[in-house]
Amino acid sequence: MKEIFIHQQKSSSSSSILKTLTLMATKHLSMNWSITDHNHQQQQQQQTEHEPFIGIDSIQQQQQIIVDYKSLGNNTKLVTKCLQFLIQFLTVQLKNGHYIPVVGLGTSRIATTSEQIIQAIKNAINVGYRHIDTADFYQNEKDIGQALYELIQDGKITREELFITTKVWSNHHTKELAIKSVRQSLKNLRIDYLDLVLIHWPMSFQSGDEFVPKFTNNNTIIGSDLSKENFELAYQGLEDACDQNLTRSIGVSNFNIKQLDKLLSTTTTTTNRRRRYEPVVNQVECHPHLNQEKLLEYCQNKHIHLVAYSPLRRANVELFVEPKLKQIALEHNRTIAQIILRWQLQRGIVIIPRTNKKHRMIENISLFDFQLNQTEMLAIMSLDKSDNNGGREITFESASHLPEFPFVIQ
Ligand SMILES: NC(=O)c1ccc[n+]([C@@H]2O[C@H](COP(=O)([O-])OP(=O)(O)OC[C@H]3O[C@@H](n4cnc5c(N)ncnc54)[C@H](OP(=O)(O)O)[C@@H]3O)[C@@H](O)[C@H]2O)c1
Repeated sequence: MKEIFIHQQKSSSSSSILKTLTLMATKHLSMNWSITDHNHQQQQQQQTEHEPFIGIDSIQQQQQIIVDYKSLGNNTKLVTKCLQFLIQFLTVQLKNGHYIPVVGLGTSRIATTSEQIIQAIKNAINVGYRHIDTADFYQNEKDIGQALYELIQDGKITREELFITTKVWSNHHTKELAIKSVRQSLKNLRIDYLDLVLIHWPMSFQSGDEFVPKFTNNNTIIGSDLSKENFELAYQGLEDACDQNLTRSIGVSNFNIKQLDKLLSTTTTTTNRRRRYEPVVNQVECHPHLNQEKLLEYCQNKHIHLVAYSPLRRANVELFVEPKLKQIALEHNRTIAQIILRWQLQRGIVIIPRTNKKHRMIENISLFDFQLNQTEMLAIMSLDKSDNNGGREITFESASHLPEFPFVIQ
């Protein structure tokens, strides 16, 4: 028997998932799917060999839903279709009640031309992605917006089915500039609300049009006057964006524990105002060479979801030749990338791997029909190199002289 393991569920009610699955299956798979509760023996017996079904087991203690699709047999095409179809329901609930899909598509440097970016987004949506991660800094919002516009116009997707994240860059660290940046992103993306907006980095650069303003005669980044420009002020701008329904959720990225503590304190140091919206996400680099154990524990205690960026360490060869990963991949008959991604999901981490290749897009979401055991999970944990920041791929050393630089660089 084959089972798909989903470690989180969209809703506490299995019947509402069943209802949605039934509707969506009929719509997307253009076949008569009979979706039934796995526990209902009677209903199960009514299934015929020719009638594939997805049955959802009762919600397990660890919020696990087991989707039994044994009647799909060895029809790999159908199984792949089933997985692609299911991915859109695999979400976790944020502390403000909204849901974030557990796998998203990273888009930083996804492609060089507009045509390639548009095609990549269309491919991702077609294979089942619903969560797209972008940023003002990536300068691809307009192309992503064009792709989304065309997909929505063509009836392939609705805005409500999508989860779009963008980020406010360090040259917009005032209340007014942060909200201006959100409005510009909305315009670029051709949507009227965002699902999530993050403060991209805690350090503040001199405000202006330049992303990384530098002194003319050297490469040093110009920092801001911290009494006028800082991440707390930018965060207040994001709170205003929430109030104005420009975004459903807000959060941060590249924040360390001290900075999160500062933000979570109920009054802000600058204005003494009560915090209206707490950050629901901290997006940080995370993969087996930088497992973020302490930060993850802190975030989980505060109900902040950790989103892993560079979850594949940008395909760094050092990671992809790890013998332990190779061995686990062999045992599960999976790729190393799938083992790395599954390991993160099982830790309750949301992942946003980036690829512009359709077959890898499918590979990177085909993570729900196998499970790593405790020994394997621990073996991957032991690959951490974060002592002295060894495993870090994105060091941003050129900004390390600025106050609020979040990492210790040796
Ligand atoms: N908040 C931040 O400061 C921050 C920083 C960095 C990144 N991010 C976000 O996180 C996303 C992901 O991180 P990332 O782009 O840095 O790196 P990543 O997702 O860890 O790795 C991307 C690289 O892995 C390759 N790849 C993808 N799937 C693969 C597979 N199944 N097997 C082998 N190689 C595979 C890709 O190559 P191909 O394209 O050739 O497949 C690409 O070279 C970004 O795109 C961005 O949205 C955020």
